[in-house]
Amino acid sequence: MAEAVLEATGLIKRYDQNGVPFEVLRGLDFSIRPGEFVAVLGPSGSGKSTFLNLVGLMDRPSSGTVLLAGEPVSADSEDARAALRNRHIGFVFQFDALMPEFSVLENVLMPARIALAAGREPASAQGKGWPGLEARARLILEKLGVGPHAERMPRELSGGERQRAALARALVNGPAVLLADEPTGNLDRPNAELVFSSLRELADGFGVAVVMVTHNESSVGYATRAVRLSDGRLAAG
Ligand SMILES: Nc1ncnc2c1ncn2[C@@H]1O[C@H](COP(=O)(O)OP(=O)(O)OP(=O)(O)O)[C@@H](O)[C@H]1O
Ligand SMILES: [Mg+2]
Repeated sequence: MAEAVLEATGLIKRYDQNGVPFEVLRGLDFSIRPGEFVAVLGPSGSGKSTFLNLVGLMDRPSSGTVLLAGEPVSADSEDARAALRNRHIGFVFQFDALMPEFSVLENVLMPARIALAAGREPASAQGKGWPGLEARARLILEKLGVGPHAERMPRELSGGERQRAALARALVNGPAVLLADEPTGNLDRPNAELVFSSLRELADGFGVAVVMVTHNESSVGYATRAVRLSDGRLAAG
């Protein structure tokens, strides 16, 4: 079986709330392999977003370690973590943050432009250069059913279409890991199920490791595995 692409061991996250330390994560362990689609469930306030921010290298744990492809990375500098995020991790949030002044295609290409500006050839563009990248961006949009909207502005799309465009943007650099925080929170059932099945296809067809935080129990049917966050730890379920 493939090695874990993303791992967390003994994660503790403490927040200071008006001078009182509050421990949200209490020794959480997690591991995901390529091709897995893990649904993370848990009540509001249980620490799901906190967990995702830590494994997504947006924030640092109070203690414990996050490993990417077996390498401990959670103690890396802000710049080093930003570079790792851009190269290996895609993010999708509940309220997508497509930039309103750019077209859908421009939004999708943005992480690739950031990679190129930093002198990193995005994995998806290896040996192909910029035109290949744009073709790839259009292909991803097409696969997600929003190809015809590539030239439109985000405000001209429905919520579901915008969310699929945000998913395309998260995928443009060919990430090994995709993290989604309530990606269907503001979608109706058919659109939510489209997002779930797209995520499952990414895992099955492209070996992406997908971690999705959600309140939606029907997502469990699309995931390869579900875990629940309670008392600061994850348990199978
Ligand atoms: N920056 C912060 N400073 C202090 N406390 C915080 C901070 N961020 C989160 N918390 C607290 O940590 C707990 C977990 O928050 P988190 O956002 O991870 O929950 P969640 O499971 O994602 O909830 P929801 O389902 O509502 O999104 C909450 O009690 C929250 O108030
Ligand atoms: Mg949350």
